[in-house]
Parts: sequence; structure tokens; C-alpha cells
Amino acid sequence: MAIEGDVTVAVANPDRREIGVTVAANGTDRVAFQSLVADDLLEVERVIHATADVPVGLLARTLELVLGPGGKRLRPTLVLLASHGNARASLQRRIDLAAAAELLHTATLVHDDVIDVAGSRRGAPTANHVFSNALAVLTGDFLFGRSGSLVAGLGSPAIMRAFSWAVMEVVQGEMRRPSLDTDLEATERDYLAKIRGKTAALLAMACETGAMLDCEDEASRVAHHAYGMSLGMAFQIIDDILDFTGTEAELGKPVGHDLRQGTVTLPSLLYLRAHPADTVVRAHLGGEGTIGEGDTDEAVNLVRNSAAIGEAHERASAYALEAIGHLASRPRTPARAALEALAEFVIARHD
Ligand code: IPE
Ligand code: IPE
Ligand code: MG
Ligand code: MG
Repeated sequence: MAIEGDVTVAVANPDRREIGVTVAANGTDRVAFQSLVADDLLEVERVIHATADVPVGLLARTLELVLGPGGKRLRPTLVLLASHGNARASLQRRIDLAAAAELLHTATLVHDDVIDVAGSRRGAPTANHVFSNALAVLTGDFLFGRSGSLVAGLGSPAIMRAFSWAVMEVVQGEMRRPSLDTDLEATERDYLAKIRGKTAALLAMACETGAMLDCEDEASRVAHHAYGMSLGMAFQIIDDILDFTGTEAELGKPVGHDLRQGTVTLPSLLYLRAHPADTVVRAHLGGEGTIGEGDTDEAVNLVRNSAAIGEAHERASAYALEAIGHLASRPRTPARAALEALAEFVIARHD
């Protein structure tokens, strides 16, 4: 997964030419969309890591655990790209907003791992696993606070409101439970509403607030919000596919986890639509039937090897195209090109 040293992202993608990825001299792939803001991302790292500098030793340790291994840094990248052309926004303000978005995302991950009883994240053990649920919840709360304080420092109630909106959307998305009790059309609508809240809202907010920072261009704000929303839908559908097709080594987090937890996602839903007589997958998702030893591996394999994966991928690609379409009326700048490349990366990613 990963940011290496200087915010280079390694992408295991055989079609790299198609998604605008260049190969750096050291052999790793440098994602074009991040190179435009690579120096700024290094500054964002500094603000993120300064978060662990607290007097309470136990909190410093939990923060070091969750902030140590970096992720892909997509949300700060979105903030930096969306604010790239804002002539009145200083670099420091853009960096603070970008760091706030990443810290908010990290807070949701720390809490999500408690909810999902996950033992690994970003290739490292989770706070709930190493410490306890109680300490993980407190650590997530601290990150929400730090994120909020960075945003407050920007002095924009409108940006603060957008952050708060995203937090409320994430919670509501996380709480939705698409179930198989209704017809599959209704289950799919619930699933889409769930991922719109738990994932797309945060990406939309990162894009929107970047566009809003020291800039009153309403058309830009609206376009960036819509871009982030569609991008987020694509992003979460790919995450749900990777839960079936990826490996823990690539993803740095458990795989097969959604089915194991009884969580309905697009791949399993599409599988059930094509296989109405199935009992193995259905039993994992709250349907009738008992789950015997080996059934979960079988259920994961059934979905993984089915046409549902390709169909889900097509749905994600459609959202990524929709995202790019939302930028069509924006000026053709390097930042817009980077956002377009980022949307292509999201559907081609393996980590
Ligand atoms: C993980 O997000 C949570 C989801 C919305 C699927 P990322 O895949 O962006 O996580 P990191 O930040 O790279 O670890
Ligand atoms: C991602 O949900 C959304 C949030 C973290 C809020 P997932 O449960 O699919 O994310 P991963 O797979 O644990 O990263
Ligand atoms: Mg999870
Ligand atoms: Mg997931």
C-alpha cells in the first residue's frame, strides 16, 4: 500500500500507461496526480505527525501507533488539488486544511476498526487490537478534536460547517445496515446510501472545502463537491471488491472481512441477484441456514470467482467517469488533470 519516503505511491497496476502513472527513477511508480503537490504533502506529513506530540504518555503511544504507518493520503491530496488555483489561499492554510481532512479520516478509521473488530490497518496492528476498544475510541476522539482545531484556525464557519456535515454523514452511513430482508433493489439502494455517507461524503468535503478556501467561486465549490461524491462512490465500491479479490499483504488490512462480519456489499449483492438459489453466501449475510466450517472461505471464493466482481467494477468505473464529467466545465489546469488522473487511479488501484 503505500507512501514510500517521499510520498511516492507504489501501484501494482499492469495498465499503468492507461492511468497516467509514470515510473520513477528508483523503479517505483509515481502517481502523476500526487506529483503536482508532492512537496506540499511532505508539509502535511509534518502537521499530521506533530499531532502525537502530547504530554499524556499513553495517548502519545496510541497516536504513534495510528499515525505511524501512512495510507495513500488521498484526502489531503484532494484538498491540495482542489485549492491549487485559489490565488488568495496561502500554502500554510492549504496544508492545515489538508492535514485536518487526513486526521478526520484517520479518526473514522480508528473508530471503524473498533466497529468492524479489525486487527490490522495500513499494514500494522490496530489500536483496538494492541490496546483496547476504550483506548481506540479515545484516540479517535482526540483526532476528531485535533482536526476540528486545525479547521477552526482557518476562521471560516462555512468550512467548519462542511467538516461537521461530513462527520454526521459518516456516522449515519456507518449505522446503515443494508439487509436481505427486503427485495434486492431496496438492499442496493440502502447499500448506495450507506457508502455515500460513510465514504463519499468525506471525499466530497475534502474537495469542496479545498475549492472554498479563500475563494468565493460557487461554481467551483459545487463542481468539486459533486466530483468528490462520485469519486467516493467509485472508491468504496473498489474497496468492497478488494475485500474479495485482494490480499492482506497488498491492502494492509484484513480481507474477506465484509462477508465474515455479515456486511452486505455490492459484490455479494450482485452475486445473490445472479444466483437466487444460493444458500452459502446468503447464510453469511443474515439469511437462513447455518454456517459450517470452511463455509466462509467457500462463500468468499464463490463471489470472488463470479461475474459479480466485473459487474461491480463496471459500476465503479461509471462513477469515476461521472466524477471526471463533473469537472468538465472547469478550466483545463494541471490540478484538474491531476483530479482526473486520481479518478482513474481509484478504479485501477490494487491497494
Ligand atoms: C479506507 O480508506 C477506508 C475507506 C473509505 C474504504 P483508504 O483506502 O483511503 O485508507 P488509507 O488512508 O489509504 O489507509
Ligand atoms: C470504510 O468502511 C468507511 C470508514 C472507515 C468510515 P470499511 O469498513 O469498508 O473500511 P475498511 O475496509 O475497514 O478500510
Ligand atoms: Mg472497516
Ligand atoms: Mg472495506
